[in-house]
Amino acid sequence: MKTKPATLVQPDRVHRRCYADAELFEQELRNIFEKTWVYCGHETQLRKPGDYATVQIGRQPMIMVRDESGAIQVLYNRCPHRGAQLCVRRDGNTGEQFMCSYHGWRFNLRGGLLGVPIEDGYSNTGMTMTDPEFSMKRAARVEIYRGFVFARLVEQGPSLVEWLGGARAAFDDMCDRSPEGEVEIIPVCHRVVQHSNWKLFMENQVDVLHAGVTHESAGRAAMAVEQQLQQATGTAPSEYKFLSTLALPLSKFAELLESKNFPNGHALIAAYLEQPRDADTLEYERVMRERYGKKKADEIMGRNAHHVVLYPGVSVQPLLLQLRVIRPLTVDSTLSEIWHFRLKGASDAMYRNALQYFNLINSPATLVNADDLENWNRCQRGVVSTASEWISFHRGCGSETGGPGVTIGKAGSEAPLRNQYRAWLDYMNQGEGM
Ligand code: FES
Ligand SMILES: [Fe+2]
Repeated sequence: MKTKPATLVQPDRVHRRCYADAELFEQELRNIFEKTWVYCGHETQLRKPGDYATVQIGRQPMIMVRDESGAIQVLYNRCPHRGAQLCVRRDGNTGEQFMCSYHGWRFNLRGGLLGVPIEDGYSNTGMTMTDPEFSMKRAARVEIYRGFVFARLVEQGPSLVEWLGGARAAFDDMCDRSPEGEVEIIPVCHRVVQHSNWKLFMENQVDVLHAGVTHESAGRAAMAVEQQLQQATGTAPSEYKFLSTLALPLSKFAELLESKNFPNGHALIAAYLEQPRDADTLEYERVMRERYGKKKADEIMGRNAHHVVLYPGVSVQPLLLQLRVIRPLTVDSTLSEIWHFRLKGASDAMYRNALQYFNLINSPATLVNADDLENWNRCQRGVVSTASEWISFHRGCGSETGGPGVTIGKAGSEAPLRNQYRAWLDYMNQGEGM
């Protein structure tokens, strides 16, 4: 019997089955990931016609490809003959066409059928070359915001810009920091399979208090080395701050990390890292003021978002030039893809800063992501326990200000987590026709 989603979510708590029920997970793929905007990639991944990257949307294997006209298409990765996948690599160039490795059907870069071997074998059958049933199917909609490509598999629903709402800051804050107003992707991705439900990742991105507890030991270790270097040489590389700031007292985190909660489950968490004052950053600031004028440049560089989370699958750190996207695999496993970017027109030194952060937080050697992964594993193992049926989201409940629409959560409130579950319930109810 199908689970009724409304029975699982209350204003300040959710049922443990949300993380542990395989049938519910299938409902989520169908009603959330296959119905809303899903991030496919950045247009700089596809430099020339025929460049493609494979991507998963819900249960659907897809291909993002640049076509002959330069436009980006998102196609189902399935041959309409007998169903074989057309691209099996993560990325590459397919030339002027896709050709199926099984019986040689060929398609143009918009998915249209170009030819089949022994075509006259189809005379007087139900198959015709012009029937769309025998072309590669396309995603219902593809839209690009400042170079970031999203697709959705159903026609109905808001435009990408409407859906993003105020969370457009994810991309505006990142791109505006470029002297050319654009970023390019670095085509190297950390991929991690987490042995936990996808929602644990999404909640963690906006769980402002966890950093001061989970990452305290990494922060303290970095702070000790930073102080030794400072004493010995009078200076310490600015990247130590990425980690040593995590040793801030918990009360300081709570005070700094205000959340802004948008419709559709999106949220923005304020930044806690101070802008470095090293020579490379000062030179970058000079270039920005020259390019935009002092007032505009200072407004851009003063924007203060640490994380912007786009529910259900994306987390962007605009100042740190990083984007994480999740692909749910099973109820208790999730693939995360972690990308970083380069500001067009900024120096190599500014890029190295982003690279340092990317590796310090996400590389296989880091303590930071490893500590997060350990917590999510523990949560996944804990939610099967029947000691209680409920997971608590009480912190700060009822203290949100603002609204309707956008609310503000203060003092380490779990407001953005509750906001995610409001969106979850909307998607699930709509999908189940309630
Ligand atoms: S399955 Fe693709 S040509 Fe037969
Ligand atoms: Fe963390």
